[in-house]
Amino acid sequence: MRPKISVVGLGFVGLPLTVASASRGFDTVGVDADAKKINSLCSGKSYIAEPGLDILLKDVLTSGRIHFTTDHDRAVKNSDITFLTVGTPLKASGEVDLSYMLDATRVIAQSLREKKRFHLLVVKSTLPPLTTRDYILPILGDLARDGAVDVAVNPEFLREGSAVHDLLDPHLIVIGAKNRRSSSLLKRYYRRFYEQVPEMLVTSIETAELIKYANNAFLATKISFINSIAALCQGMPESDVETVAYAIGKDPRIGPMFLKAGPGFGGSCLPKDLVGLIGFSQKIGEEPGLFRAVQAVNDAQFLRIVEMMRQQKVVKGGNAVTILGLAFKSGTDDIRNAVSVRLVWYLIKYGVSVRVHDPLALERFRMIFGDRISYFSSLPNALEGSDCCVILTEWDAYKKLRQELLLATMRSDNVIDVRRILDPKKFSEMNFKAIGLGS
Ligand code: UDX
Repeated sequence: MRPKISVVGLGFVGLPLTVASASRGFDTVGVDADAKKINSLCSGKSYIAEPGLDILLKDVLTSGRIHFTTDHDRAVKNSDITFLTVGTPLKASGEVDLSYMLDATRVIAQSLREKKRFHLLVVKSTLPPLTTRDYILPILGDLARDGAVDVAVNPEFLREGSAVHDLLDPHLIVIGAKNRRSSSLLKRYYRRFYEQVPEMLVTSIETAELIKYANNAFLATKISFINSIAALCQGMPESDVETVAYAIGKDPRIGPMFLKAGPGFGGSCLPKDLVGLIGFSQKIGEEPGLFRAVQAVNDAQFLRIVEMMRQQKVVKGGNAVTILGLAFKSGTDDIRNAVSVRLVWYLIKYGVSVRVHDPLALERFRMIFGDRISYFSSLPNALEGSDCCVILTEWDAYKKLRQELLLATMRSDNVIDVRRILDPKKFSEMNFKAIGLGS
């Protein structure tokens, strides 16, 4: 018999998981406290812009294997496995906010006390190591002690913009479990889920928690590393970080991915998980020197962009600057921890007139900046009369930019390619600067 699945928290991880689980033949119920979200999902509309999600959702809605509800109690009692996918954001103090996680666990525990059959609770949200031991298991109390409920930690490595793809084709499944019963149950679920079963690694709960943090911290470290090399290149004539990255990426011990110099890492995960890892290191008395350095390099990327603009003498009142790309990376409208937000506040402070363009993120940006800046959906209009064009996101449309268009529309000839997507040779008539490109 296939286990019945409930997923609590229908965000960027929970919703794709609910839909994919139903599409693989499991009776699945998605639970969220937000009735608006539930209504939208019931009518076949996803509020998350993930490629492939809408189509998959429409397909499974007709199959009758998927349900959405705000009723945690019924969903949990009528299922065998509950995946916990609620958010773990950062508080203003920089600590990880566990309150959504712990509130959801309390509600689930209440339902499980009245359920007669065994239940597996699977934590998918990213948590500081030891959270399951110190917070989640104590809430479950006698349920966990008596074996009525098992807890497993099963982190996700989904990227925004390819969540469905990553979910259906993972490089590894990590199962942190206290006993064989829970790891076997979860393994059986995944064996049925995947036609080509990925490698499954069973670890302790604590190791599984740390794997998620270590994974994201390592990606962040690679980015800060290459941005540090980019800084050296910028200070040295005739050198180019792109070529350095290509060469070192050929070494199989290093690998080519996450070696793209740019504005630094943003988004909802890498910056947050690095803060979480620093906090956890301090908690157990370990000096987080490397992690702090990764963070410091990332913060400093903003100053490097500003320095390039200062060298071009564009940061002053009366000048207009065009920002191309607001999202923290291409393929998403997410502007969380995007360098664009910090840069625009900076330019406003210096009286610069800011013009912004982005294929997806304009509306989100408008919610922050209102009428302080100008918004454009047409590239030529965004560039018209500008003194500097700064490329912050690697959207395909920007890769096709031509010198002729810039010269014909802009007032001055300054270009800054923060993403290294343009060929400098094709901008020889302009004052062209780029991250990691020696003058
Ligand atoms: C990340 C992890 O990749 C994923 O495994 C985890 O589950 C969630 O966090 P995501 O936040 O979607 O995913 O973005 P990702 O594609 O990893 O990029 C993160 C940031 O690093 C972006 O700002 C991106 O532009 C930047 N980046 C990435 C670089 O600057 N250079 C690179 O070479 C790669």
